[in-house]
Amino acid sequence: MQQSPFPYHGPLKAEQVSGREVLAQDLAERIMDRRLTALMGPRRYGKTSLLQRVAADLAAVGPQPIWIDLYELNSMADLAGSIDRGLDAVTGSLRRILDSVAGSLSLRLGVVGVELSKEKRLRPDPVLTVRALMQVLVRAAQRQDLLIVFDEFSGISRVSGAAGLLRTELQHHYQDLGIVFAGSQPSTMRTLFSDQAQPFFAQADLIEIGPLEDHAVENIVEEGFEATGRAAGEATSRIVGFADGHPQRAMQLADATWRLTDPGGKATEATWEEGLAEVRANVDAASERMFAMLAPGHQKTLRVLAAEGSVYGNAAGVLELSPGTARAAVEALTGNGFIVKRNGRVALVDPLLADWLQRRFTL
Ligand SMILES: Nc1ncnc2c1ncn2[C@@H]1O[C@H](COP(=O)(O)OP(=O)(O)O)[C@@H](O)[C@H]1O
Ligand SMILES: [Mg+2]
Repeated sequence: MQQSPFPYHGPLKAEQVSGREVLAQDLAERIMDRRLTALMGPRRYGKTSLLQRVAADLAAVGPQPIWIDLYELNSMADLAGSIDRGLDAVTGSLRRILDSVAGSLSLRLGVVGVELSKEKRLRPDPVLTVRALMQVLVRAAQRQDLLIVFDEFSGISRVSGAAGLLRTELQHHYQDLGIVFAGSQPSTMRTLFSDQAQPFFAQADLIEIGPLEDHAVENIVEEGFEATGRAAGEATSRIVGFADGHPQRAMQLADATWRLTDPGGKATEATWEEGLAEVRANVDAASERMFAMLAPGHQKTLRVLAAEGSVYGNAAGVLELSPGTARAAVEALTGNGFIVKRNGRVALVDPLLADWLQRRFTL
């Protein structure tokens, strides 16, 4: 069976990333100039994908990437484990450098997780382990041009002392290596990288990754269909309109529509409708579970926003959502990436959550 041209689970491979040329260029320049940069944007907006692409482009001319993923960090041992995994994933000549530097520090890459899960008496101190692993990075950077990507960096704030520890290890060396932080939690990212933050992190520029432009989504959809001997037809504008710039949702909707289009065939209005129905069937339960975990004020705010696009209209009155509660909820929901302020209007980030709310509630 032919592979779908619209992958939508996890980050794309560098060569699959299209659009976002200006941002990619800017990031590449920042990395080459050793300017500390933090890339912020909602989950599934393509931060990791874009950085993969930038890293691959740069690797061809210089800096070799090392990827450290801090997703769902819960302890200092997790931090040590994620740095170790990042180093252990490296292959080729850079791997030989890393192994040799690690060896000179009596460290073996790839076994930190095992070491840290031993019984207490035999377990190394996770703080010392993080320090040693960061030393490997810093020393390797003296022998090879490096780009370190700290992905899902907002996770660092879940472990007390972790951000400070990384700062201590990096602050005198960041001119020697390219560093990019990426994260999805706007409030945490802002706190970490604001002027009031710890001096090292405060030097970073906070760059936002916005929605994909409509014409970029249009190109992706049309080219994906064409490359696989199909035509997207009327479905294109429907996907573009529904996805509202959300990259992962656009790809998911395109994938469903594509699967329903015969090889050699052309998608129609009916194909789109059927594709949308399938995507809804796949996503609704998750929307419902997620919604159920929210506080009542947050639930009302999302419902009102999905219905009217404003928290000060009729709907708010009907749901007895007070302006004070609404204001606090908008602030909190913006902070954790559920909603965004865009062109003066507040919108849900996930068009499929908005769509579920509109179908599930009359208000
Ligand atoms: N430039 C892009 N073009 C097309 N689809 C994209 C693009 N960037 C992201 N996507 C879609 O979004 C999904 C999630 O991307 P990812 O990089 O994992 O996001 P993030 O790191 O922001 O959570 C991908 O699987 C893909 O479907
Ligand atoms: Mg990511």
